[in-house]
Amino acid sequence: MTLEYHNDKLQFRGQDVTNLADQYGTPLIIYDEVHMRDMMRRFHAVLSSHLENYSVSYASKAFTALQMINLLKEEDMEIDVVSSGELYTAIKGGFSPSLIKFHGNNKTVEELEFALEQGVGLFIIDSLDEVRLLNDLAHSPVDVLIRVNPGVDVDTHEFISTGQTDSKFGMSIVDGTALKAVIDIDKTENLNFKGIHYHLGSQLSDPAPFVNALTAVYDWLNDHEIEIEILNMGGGFGVRYTEDDIRFPIEEGFEEILTQLKTVCAQYDLELPHVMIEPGRSIAAEAAVTVYEVGTVKDIPGVSRYVSINGGMSDHIRTPLYGAEYDIIPVKKQTDDVESVSAHVVGKLCESGDIVGKNKPLPSTIERGDYVAVKTTGAYHYSMASNYNQMQKPAVIFISPHGVKQVIKRQTLDQLIQNDVLIEE
Ligand code: LLP
Repeated sequence: MTLEYHNDKLQFRGQDVTNLADQYGTPLIIYDEVHMRDMMRRFHAVLSSHLENYSVSYASKAFTALQMINLLKEEDMEIDVVSSGELYTAIKGGFSPSLIKFHGNNKTVEELEFALEQGVGLFIIDSLDEVRLLNDLAHSPVDVLIRVNPGVDVDTHEFISTGQTDSKFGMSIVDGTALKAVIDIDKTENLNFKGIHYHLGSQLSDPAPFVNALTAVYDWLNDHEIEIEILNMGGGFGVRYTEDDIRFPIEEGFEEILTQLKTVCAQYDLELPHVMIEPGRSIAAEAAVTVYEVGTVKDIPGVSRYVSINGGMSDHIRTPLYGAEYDIIPVKKQTDDVESVSAHVVGKLCESGDIVGKNKPLPSTIERGDYVAVKTTGAYHYSMASNYNQMQKPAVIFISPHGVKQVIKRQTLDQLIQNDVLIEE
């Protein structure tokens, strides 16, 4: 992360964080656009060095905005969406519908109709029910993958682990459901079976589950004589929130995964499929910091110190939800003569669990009006933000080589009540 102090003031990609916070207000999510472009290019570079046919499809649930869609277009990315809202954003951003993939375990009739009308390129069918539903709704042939659960173990938080048999997502290759989906699709009029998809989980740092999934899936394909054109391995490539986290090793990891793909394809005398991957977090997470202003600092003598900030679980839910750890640093550099004190950094929402970081070292002198920056907040922060306590969603800015651009304005108070209907008696 290009975050460093210059003359005691925090700079992010060469921009002074205090100035940005003063100008745009806080909470403020600041993205380094160059970092996101670099990540997209790394995925392209590694896949193109091993494969002729591949695509990198950004999981827009991690963070989406019209300007993000622009960036994706410029970097030859494709997009995954999981709702009408994500689809609408991509289309309004001018993204070609043929490069959009529609995921989800419960796509509604309205969503499927909207996606069909827009000409979405690929539907990832999640259940036997969806086979029937999509076939009935489609008036002409559409390309589909099925989402399977390869049944491999992954080492991550249970809430973000998805590829196991007992999951609300996908169909198991172990219990016969995935096979039934292939057979059912084959009998339909409007569904073109193109291949399979799986997403093993999130924040994975080890290529092993991807390698194991390939073995399991290709054995299954071979056992049932199923031919595929597309293999979508999902996303889930881990990032570094704190120094305890291990990033997924993109270059070495794909070397290992794609070597295994070549091995299993050779073993079964098959051509290499078109490989798709769906990174979300690994593109956006480490690209951003969120800046907050400190308010009340409360010391409970001999017990703890609470440093309250002007946001919280409305824009930072990952810590309350998953116990996720983040680095939190002062925007004004701590000088050598000031000691560090362990503090709980807490939000301003009415919930005891509204904690952004427990036992974080912060300068003992921290006081109302100071800014703090929470690192690695580019993925699943803005996109998971809520209006609990009628909090306004934060503003988002991008730092690019051409300067700073606001890409999402702070929500206004009027916007909070714009859908309210007052019934006049
Ligand atoms: N593809 C599919 C089908 C997915 O379900 C997901 C994430 C991705 C790709 C992207 O995964 P990524 O590369 O971003 O890890 N709210 C949770 C994450 C939920 C992710 C769900 N699916 C969090 O904040 O960690």
